[in-house]
Amino acid sequence: TSSNLVRIVEVGPRDGLQNEKAVISPSVKVELINRLGHAGLKSIEAGSFVSPKWVPQMAGTSEVLAHMEKIPGVHYPVLVPNQKGLEALFSLSDSSSPSSSSSKLPTDEIAIFTAATDEFSRANTNCSVAESLARLRPVAAVAIAHGLRVRGYVSVVITCPYSGKVDPRKVREVTKELIDMGCYEVSLGDTNGTGTPSTVRRMIEEVASAVPVSKLAGHFHDTYGMAIANVMTALSLGVRTIDSSIGGLGGCPYSPGATGNVATEDVLHAIQAPDSGYEAEGDMNALVDIGFWISEQLGRDNVSRAGKAYRAA
Ligand code: HMG
Ligand code: MG
Repeated sequence: TSSNLVRIVEVGPRDGLQNEKAVISPSVKVELINRLGHAGLKSIEAGSFVSPKWVPQMAGTSEVLAHMEKIPGVHYPVLVPNQKGLEALFSLSDSSSPSSSSSKLPTDEIAIFTAATDEFSRANTNCSVAESLARLRPVAAVAIAHGLRVRGYVSVVITCPYSGKVDPRKVREVTKELIDMGCYEVSLGDTNGTGTPSTVRRMIEEVASAVPVSKLAGHFHDTYGMAIANVMTALSLGVRTIDSSIGGLGGCPYSPGATGNVATEDVLHAIQAPDSGYEAEGDMNALVDIGFWISEQLGRDNVSRAGKAYRAA
């Protein structure tokens, strides 16, 4: 009885670009975000306020936020790992106004992130899962008090590159913690793309025993070519938010060998097919063009299979 409408969260400008070797100028990032918005996507991750020593590709997020178009009705979440990241966002507020409302900020949404294992959490954010939750709790509270929406991420929901198989009960616990600290939604990250429909099903069923499935999103990397199958598995279980990346860009800097997210074009192709049972917004032809354009900017191949097929047709 859930609606057929699938919400796409475009993560290419963040998850995509953060792991590309080429460092892209803020002006190209701005053009990417603007084009994705005009192609009809409603949620577009615009960058991260993380340490530039850890992820140099995301330096310049302030500049991107300042210069990109803010299309009404489109959300532009940014990743925030700690209080310092939130302060960096608040420093962009229009200081001519005494109001502390988020309407003066260049975005209305942040994303906070943690993991299902201490090993990954340490590699990614230099602290254990418990420490990261303790650090994020006040960040979420302050953000919400300023009128921001807060999205949560849990990484390594299937396997961890440092500690192996992950117990779905651990994913459930961490997801519940993020919901309890005020996240409107938690995205379940198969960071290294080792999930298959059977392991993804088990994991989602476990998490959905504690958190309404309407508050869950699927975030699948495509390392083993399973991402689109995992997306369809998540949809079949009632998940209605899918993270994807234009042209299949990216990976994760702290997951060696992991490839990019499932391509936005591939997800839309499956969903917009006649009688798929699902619907999603997004202009396929425009997105195909954007996938080729940004791949060219990066000097890499477009790895969206649907994108290539549309171009060849
Ligand atoms: P730390 O070294 O423990 O932090 O890093 P610290 O508080 O000790 O500070 C060390 C230095 O970093 C200081 O600078 C701070 O000012 C600075 P210094 O005095 O040495 O010059 N610093 C910051 N600078 C800018 N922005 C900040 C910030 N905080 C501290 N917010 C920290 C801890 C969390 C900062 C670091 O580990 C970090 O930035 N990690 C980010 C990792 C990251 O961005 N990973 C990728 C995103 S998550 C992901 O891709 C997974 C996902 O896609 C889902 C999935 O697929 O699984 C979401
Ligand atoms: Mg990711």
